[in-house]
Amino acid sequence: MVLADPTEIIDTHFSPEKPDATGHFGRFGGQFVPETLMQNLEELYAGYMSIKDDPSFQAELAGLLKDYVGRATPLYFAERLTERYAREDGTGPQIYLKREDLTHTGAHKINNSLAQVLLARRLGKTRIIAETGAGQHGVATATVCARFGLQCVVFMGVKDMERQKLNVFRMRLLGAEVKPVSDGKGTLTEALSAAIRDWVTYPVETHYIVGSVAGPHPYPMMVRDFHSCIGKEVRWQAMEKWGGKPDVLLACVGGGSNAMGLFDDWKADMGVRLIGVEAAGKGVDTQEHAATLTKGKLGVLHGAMSYQLQTLDAI
Ligand SMILES: Cc1ncc(COP(=O)(O)O)c(C=O)c1O
Repeated sequence: MVLADPTEIIDTHFSPEKPDATGHFGRFGGQFVPETLMQNLEELYAGYMSIKDDPSFQAELAGLLKDYVGRATPLYFAERLTERYAREDGTGPQIYLKREDLTHTGAHKINNSLAQVLLARRLGKTRIIAETGAGQHGVATATVCARFGLQCVVFMGVKDMERQKLNVFRMRLLGAEVKPVSDGKGTLTEALSAAIRDWVTYPVETHYIVGSVAGPHPYPMMVRDFHSCIGKEVRWQAMEKWGGKPDVLLACVGGGSNAMGLFDDWKADMGVRLIGVEAAGKGVDTQEHAATLTKGKLGVLHGAMSYQLQTLDAI
């Protein structure tokens, strides 16, 4: 189904915090997968529910987030950027950066990869697969697999492999197998499809670490929860730095994982504006942008209902 105006959905179908019994957040989400994967998703959901409030799992994760990942990441006052946007009368935003780039492997992605590897081990899985675009999720996953001695296969579009040669090198150095995906445009979308196909083929021993708030339920919920440490840290760090709350939280949106990780703890704070920024490329009125939420139409991709940038043949 396609809606002409995406804002129509946003206004009339509020997405609740918890998915319903079919894994939908309002209209969004769900489990649009082949029958062969349903058992895996049910197993994953049950596994996630059992560890969510399990003190031994939470203690293990918290310990590794601190000592292995390097959390809490600093909330850094960007003095020169603040000066750059200062108004003539001396007012203007005080800009702080949440330094996820200072985690082990250099991006927030490791919060999720680490937590999912711990979960996969509890589920008895021996083989980890992942998709990657920019390569950061692949590097994070290859790193935690090396840490726990698990086999790791990363699917990556051929175009992305060319653009991100250094990350391909890093993944291979860490012992991961990087599988080139040449379908379609040879980018992230096709890599994700290839990973899902692999999972359908080897469902018993494999755990698929989805790298963003995408994929069938319970992935979006799980990935959001595993990144929510970002926003929780900002709460006490803001109190420590200026004794209050931020006015605005701003995050880039690719698949949405760093944005959801930052926003999740702040959804009920009405005075705090949450702003996600999408890549406008050559302009949102051209065909060359990645503004999925701004310009997308409702559709099903990679097992979930969401906004998609669709070509005419998909519609
Ligand atoms: C450093 C970094 N930030 C942000 C993103 C965008 O992804 P997401 O929207 O899931 O945070 C990526 C994706 O690879 C990334 O590597």
